[in-house]
Amino acid sequence: MNRLGGKTALITGAARGIGLAFARAYVREGAKVAIADINFDGARQAVAEFGEEAIAVEMDVTRQDSIDRAVGETVDALGRIDILVNNAAIFTAAPIVEIERADYVRTFEINVGGTLFTMQAVARHMVEHGGGKIINMASQAGRRGEALVGVYCATKAAVISLTQSAGLDLIRHGINVNAIAPGVVDGEHWDGVDAFFAKYENKAPGQKKREVGEAVPYGRMGKPEDLTGMAIFLASDEANYIVAQTYNVDGGQWMS
Ligand SMILES: NC(=O)c1ccc[n+]([C@@H]2O[C@H](COP(=O)([O-])OP(=O)(O)OC[C@H]3O[C@@H](n4cnc5c(N)ncnc54)[C@H](O)[C@@H]3O)[C@@H](O)[C@H]2O)c1
Repeated sequence: MNRLGGKTALITGAARGIGLAFARAYVREGAKVAIADINFDGARQAVAEFGEEAIAVEMDVTRQDSIDRAVGETVDALGRIDILVNNAAIFTAAPIVEIERADYVRTFEINVGGTLFTMQAVARHMVEHGGGKIINMASQAGRRGEALVGVYCATKAAVISLTQSAGLDLIRHGINVNAIAPGVVDGEHWDGVDAFFAKYENKAPGQKKREVGEAVPYGRMGKPEDLTGMAIFLASDEANYIVAQTYNVDGGQWMS
């Protein structure tokens, strides 16, 4: 398979989870990948499996200097950026009456500001290089509000909205901006989600995870690899006519 042969990609938050699965898939499809993460040790460990095909980049998507440095390092090492995946995000949960301002600010800074300003920095580069593909990681949480998850849901709704605006604005430069909305995907992220629900819904550890998995029409939680087909497709030339869309990849969860 060589659907991304000769392409280069910057993936934020790729030291683990979905971002790392995307890095593996992109390399399998012939791309070179920058694995960018605030967890630089994790990014360096992740990169060890790739040889020449990937580099580790230290990046905090909440800091403009860090975004600019990460984009510069990636261009220096890989020549240019054809594909950006805005994947870095954090989860948070609390009843409305307990939400703390600092938590709200931090979550918006990473999930929304990180997506916007990384998209901006890479789009400036892509404009000069004749276009590219940008994929933002949204969520089913961005499709509707959820008791206990007000802040995270709002950040993912903002990601869907930014994908629409940026998609409409940037297509004239040959930049396709689209998003993926996963449902529930197993991994360390969901271990954290499970812990929030254990606290607020008085559930045993692992119980929420079991319940959400059973509720997915497909019959189980997603795995990061379930999302790679869409991530490859949206990064490829086959998606040239797709603009400002957010695709559910969720085992049918949104329809249920
Ligand atoms: N796992 C799910 O069920 C699920 C569902 C819907 C959407 N998503 C979205 O998919 C994406 C990936 O999710 P995941 O499950 O792999 O999450 P994850 O928590 O496993 O990975 C997120 C990565 O982002 C990094 N990160 C955090 N803050 C950062 C910052 N300031 N700068 C740079 N990197 C930072 C972390 O170090 C981590 O490696 C996220 O956008 C998430 O919101 C996940």
